[in-house]
Amino acid sequence: MSRRLLITGGAGFIGSNFVHHWCQNYPQDRVVVLDALTYAGNRNNLATLEDKENFRFVQGDICERPLVDELLAEVNIDIIAHFAAESHVDRSILGPSAFVQTNVIGTLNLLEAFRSHWKNNSYPDDYRFLHVSTDEVYGSLEPQDPGFSETTPYAPNSPYSASKAGSDHLVRAYFHTYSLPTIITNCSNNYGPYQFPEKLIPLMCINTLMGKQLPVYGDGKNVRDWLYVGDHCTALDAVLNRGIAGETYNIGGNNEVENISLVKMLCELMDELATDLPVRPSSELITYVKDRLGHDRRYAINSTKIQNQLGWSPSVTVEQGLRLTVAWYLSHQDWWQPLLSPEYQAYYSQVYTQSAS
Ligand code: NAD
Ligand code: TYD
Repeated sequence: MSRRLLITGGAGFIGSNFVHHWCQNYPQDRVVVLDALTYAGNRNNLATLEDKENFRFVQGDICERPLVDELLAEVNIDIIAHFAAESHVDRSILGPSAFVQTNVIGTLNLLEAFRSHWKNNSYPDDYRFLHVSTDEVYGSLEPQDPGFSETTPYAPNSPYSASKAGSDHLVRAYFHTYSLPTIITNCSNNYGPYQFPEKLIPLMCINTLMGKQLPVYGDGKNVRDWLYVGDHCTALDAVLNRGIAGETYNIGGNNEVENISLVKMLCELMDELATDLPVRPSSELITYVKDRLGHDRRYAINSTKIQNQLGWSPSVTVEQGLRLTVAWYLSHQDWWQPLLSPEYQAYYSQVYTQSAS
């Protein structure tokens, strides 16, 4: 049986990886991507799909209700996979409003539109609203704390995580109040191909190639649980095919690493794989800079529920995933070079001039 999906934010990092995953594995399904193409969206990420009959790209904002209504009705969508968001913590510190607008109001708009569409079609229970969220809604862990589970209380600390928490609460409320068949996933830090250069791993790869400083915030001992984006896609696939409406699933990589160790691993890989580096060894570029405001110390995910109930577990170790990612950035300079635009340079100097120690 073929399905019809509306994938919001499908031109961004995780969204585009997921679109490729879905189109490859379920070629009979119809996929419509709705993406506003903000600074983080890149239609080129989907270029190889553009001429496929079952694929359509629509440039537009999730906050535009008439547009969303029209797409849901016209394509008779039965699954919304919602990735669209403002996603970078440092940008949320500089300007929180856009985060509330897209992450909270945009999600509310999609929920409302999906609710009327669902009602107009006599409430089918195989409809799904998949809301892709983050482990950052749970706040920060102490070194010995167990990883976040689905019942960990919410304690968001940044404007980004607060806006994602707000959207999660709305999604949850739509299940409880209206029985809308929603599912929430909260995942850890993703990495892999097509990640915008502002995030830690691509930023370090690109700065190394350019012989620029590698800015490590604070003492570099903050811990993140790294999830290879391909593993995230197989987890979302399991959730959409076998997940239960009204449930939340936490998705983690089982790869907790301190930032400084991760940056050193990246430097070693760059030294090994890049032929032409301005500074060698590249670890000489590591520079400790002023800490991010409100910087969460540690995130870790307990993925037991998705492992036991849906049979998913991550397959890529951080060593394997970093090697794949470094190789991808080295062979795709034509993808990331144009993203280092004057707007990006202005953002970069705003964050990193303020944080120079
Ligand atoms: P991204 O910033 O790379 O991409 C976001 C996409 O959403 C872009 O294509 C952008 O153009 C689009 N978009 C933004 N505002 C929009 C709007 N108003 N209307 C339509 N489209 C809009 O983000 P990502 O890293 O791919 O993250 C995807 C989702 O996963 C987000 O919801 C994020 O909160 C969540 N998440 C990300 C990570 C991570 O490590 N990257 C971790 C946990 C959760
Ligand atoms: P990031 O990729 O921004 O993801 P998040 O803040 O959502 O976890 O950052 C990952 C970690 O790396 C986080 O602890 C902040 C740190 N970091 C740096 O030390 N330097 C940098 O230049 C960036 C972008 C992040």
